[in-house]
Amino acid sequence: MCGIVGYISNKEKLKLAKFMTMIKSLDYRGYDSWGVSHLSDKINLIKEIGKIENTDLPGESNLILGHTRWATHGGVTKENAHPHLSNDKNISLVHNGIIENYQELKSKLDGFNFSGQTDSEVLTNYIQSKLTEDTLSSFAQILPDLKGTYAIGFLKRGENKIYFARKDSPLVLGIGKDEKILSSDVTSFFDRTKTVIYLEDGDYGYIEGNSVKIFNSGEEVERKKSTITWDIDKARKGEFEHFMLKEISEQVDVINQVLIQDSKNISSIVNDLKTKNIFMVACGTSYNAALAAEYEFLKQGIMPKVIRAHEFRSYSKFVDKNSIVLAISQSGETIDLIDALKSIKNSGAEIVSIVNVQGSTLDRMSDKRIYMNVGPEICVLSTKSYTASVSILMLLAGCITDTYETSKANLTEIIRQIYYLTSENSRKYTKELSQLLRYTKHLFTIGRKRDYPTAMEAALKIKEVSYIHAEGFAGGQIKHGPIAMIENGTPCIVFVSNKNNSEILSNAQELKSRGAFIIGVSDKNHDVFDFWIKVIGPDKYSPILRTIPIQILAYYLAVLKGLDPDKPRNLAKSVTVK
Ligand code: M6R
Repeated sequence: MCGIVGYISNKEKLKLAKFMTMIKSLDYRGYDSWGVSHLSDKINLIKEIGKIENTDLPGESNLILGHTRWATHGGVTKENAHPHLSNDKNISLVHNGIIENYQELKSKLDGFNFSGQTDSEVLTNYIQSKLTEDTLSSFAQILPDLKGTYAIGFLKRGENKIYFARKDSPLVLGIGKDEKILSSDVTSFFDRTKTVIYLEDGDYGYIEGNSVKIFNSGEEVERKKSTITWDIDKARKGEFEHFMLKEISEQVDVINQVLIQDSKNISSIVNDLKTKNIFMVACGTSYNAALAAEYEFLKQGIMPKVIRAHEFRSYSKFVDKNSIVLAISQSGETIDLIDALKSIKNSGAEIVSIVNVQGSTLDRMSDKRIYMNVGPEICVLSTKSYTASVSILMLLAGCITDTYETSKANLTEIIRQIYYLTSENSRKYTKELSQLLRYTKHLFTIGRKRDYPTAMEAALKIKEVSYIHAEGFAGGQIKHGPIAMIENGTPCIVFVSNKNNSEILSNAQELKSRGAFIIGVSDKNHDVFDFWIKVIGPDKYSPILRTIPIQILAYYLAVLKGLDPDKPRNLAKSVTVK
């Protein structure tokens, strides 16, 4: 969480207003406060709480450091916002991650004053207390004292450099001709340069306008330069009011995008899936995507184990050289997932990632990877990346018994359906439902088999963006407890398959008998429905098709309630703290 940007140039000064747009592009990582410091003869500091509403900051500089925060230690206050200024006002520092032993470090800082509660403010002053004339060497000596995770950037008065260090928190360098950029993510700079260096854990060093120095374990190291291939327009809202709606609409292209694959890579992964024990690991929506695909693997006679990444350590002893681990993540930076994979580092298992962000930590940790190819997903809610993950997993599962070509062709059949579901007409219809539900406090979603994960994903979408309490259950589960929650008028969204649907329809009836308002999502209208959302297409792809109208519903619920769908409260796009 938190977004870091550092800018340094040996030629042009950068307008602070432009720099603010770079910081703002990272506010999906955290948006409870922000700050900027820039160097003239002194360190100038501007900090505010809340989201960046206005990027129009006057002034310019060739050495700027900024941050957008997702609070961990200490509340949302100006004092806790970054950059932090050291007591002697010579160091300005931004930090992403958690310094776990900050209390111990603080106890060594006799005579220092602290205005906030953050580990990062302690870190800033700890650096001040240890820094010598040789900034780089003394900084290198401080790093082993830090326990926890960090991406650090700092500038020091009197020096034309931005120093950095990375451990378990993402940090990349943008390499321009006369300018260098330090950032949590390429999104902040890919309109300035497409050349990037992904830093590794343990890397530290500094950037100057015309040079980069990277060290690891005391030795200078060379890191490979990569080229960003993302289309800049994907990171802009264009005609849409919000990224969420734009990204929902972009799902019409997802199938074609995920099908841009190296067939040899896919067949070698499929061969291993046929012979090895499969573990699928992910969090949040990516986990729901894995659950949805699990049913397709079961149909193909293979039983994968699907585990939430944060619970994976208890299972890791069962992972060995006969295992293949499918790690699913949009960002490729989710720390729970990275941590899970670290726990099996020496197991001999093959790690295959399904990932959107190329060059991310997950990408680099994987033995093989399948890219989602859907371009940047800016809205905190996963929408197009969910469709991409499910599609890729279904493609793999399909290849167990079918050829790659057949499995691909099956997937392309749903493009027309996605087009219809995301069309303006369909959206209008779902918007009407959102009017009916806007004052709802509790809502339940149910489905059976593949539609059980659909119900979970639907509930996740609704709760995280509209703050309506929504829970997803398997149809068979409701009479084991949840049905006690049903009152007159409680909305229940029921995902009804085309075939073998008598049990889910009975569950809908059981809910309706207790007063529930039944919203059916299915190919046909059924008597039990009070409201019907028509979704046609094969049951096999229902986790994709039946989720889309609920993404749209969640979007309109947020908009109707005056909420920002792109940045729901308390959440961040990239969850890089445990
Ligand atoms: O980047 P990842 O796919 O690893 O992220 C995992 C979850 O944090 C993410 O899916 C989260 O649940 C989203 N907010 C869901 O919309």
